[in-house]
Amino acid sequence: MLLKKNKIPKLTLVGAGPGDPDLITLKGIKAIKNADVILYDALIAEELLDFAPKQTLKIYVGKRGGTNYIAQEDIHKLIVDKAFEYGHVVRLKGGDPMVFGRGHEELDYAKAFGLETAIVPGISSAISVPEMQEIPVTKRGVSESFWVLTATTQDGRLSKDLHLAAQSKATVIVLMGVHKIKQIVSLYAGLNKHNLPIAVIQNGTCKNEKIAISTIENIEAVIIEQNIQSPAIIVIGDVVLEHPSVLEKITNEQVMKNLA
Ligand SMILES: C[S@@+](CC[C@H](N)C(=O)[O-])C[C@H]1O[C@@H](n2cnc3c(N)ncnc32)[C@H](O)[C@@H]1O
Repeated sequence: MLLKKNKIPKLTLVGAGPGDPDLITLKGIKAIKNADVILYDALIAEELLDFAPKQTLKIYVGKRGGTNYIAQEDIHKLIVDKAFEYGHVVRLKGGDPMVFGRGHEELDYAKAFGLETAIVPGISSAISVPEMQEIPVTKRGVSESFWVLTATTQDGRLSKDLHLAAQSKATVIVLMGVHKIKQIVSLYAGLNKHNLPIAVIQNGTCKNEKIAISTIENIEAVIIEQNIQSPAIIVIGDVVLEHPSVLEKITNEQVMKNLA
């Protein structure tokens, strides 16, 4: 493979944040500005590509919806091939590259071919999507810890960790879980947690954001009613009661009292 313009073959993994283009880091923007090639995923804000120089090669490698499917192995090869051909490859990934993002696999592969590597962390959807809805993942007196899990493991079964997390008092945040909601509900119901609050947030931090809030018992009906789909974050625990729509009545009463 020939390298153009004596450039050093390099991979920078960049976290693009949860969806709102303003939620990328300054370091992430600097990397995009210095990219010869950008390989970008489905969940990134495409406006971010406008920060790249005109001549930068921009290649979509998203896996969304089963169409234009690119296997992970092919992404690995693209990273290495393009780095040797053009120089600096930026791998722009949704949220943080190392939270269910396969970022470390790409890093390993690139290193095995002698590429220079760098990492720019991103704001993960796991925390920021609930946060932007004013649902804190921890709050003094409400929840002192949180789990971040995927509902979908390599073998397609519900994660064993979810069985453990559901028994704890921690906030439970589930990624890639909307299509497994029935199993999640029956897991919590089996633990007698029918009344536990749950929120499902689709396209968090984006203009087309949607939220469904209910209890374990009723969430499936609310998801259908509001047509909530992937990509979505599921938040389970009492912190969901901090959402403004739940607190509104209490807050109004408090404001009146405080102003009296
Ligand atoms: C492959 S994981 C990647 C997670 C990413 N690395 C991160 O840190 O946010 C994709 C899943 O993240 C969640 N997700 C990512 N962005 C989201 C958003 N803006 N709103 C809701 N869920 C989101 C969804 O559960 C989606 O199926």
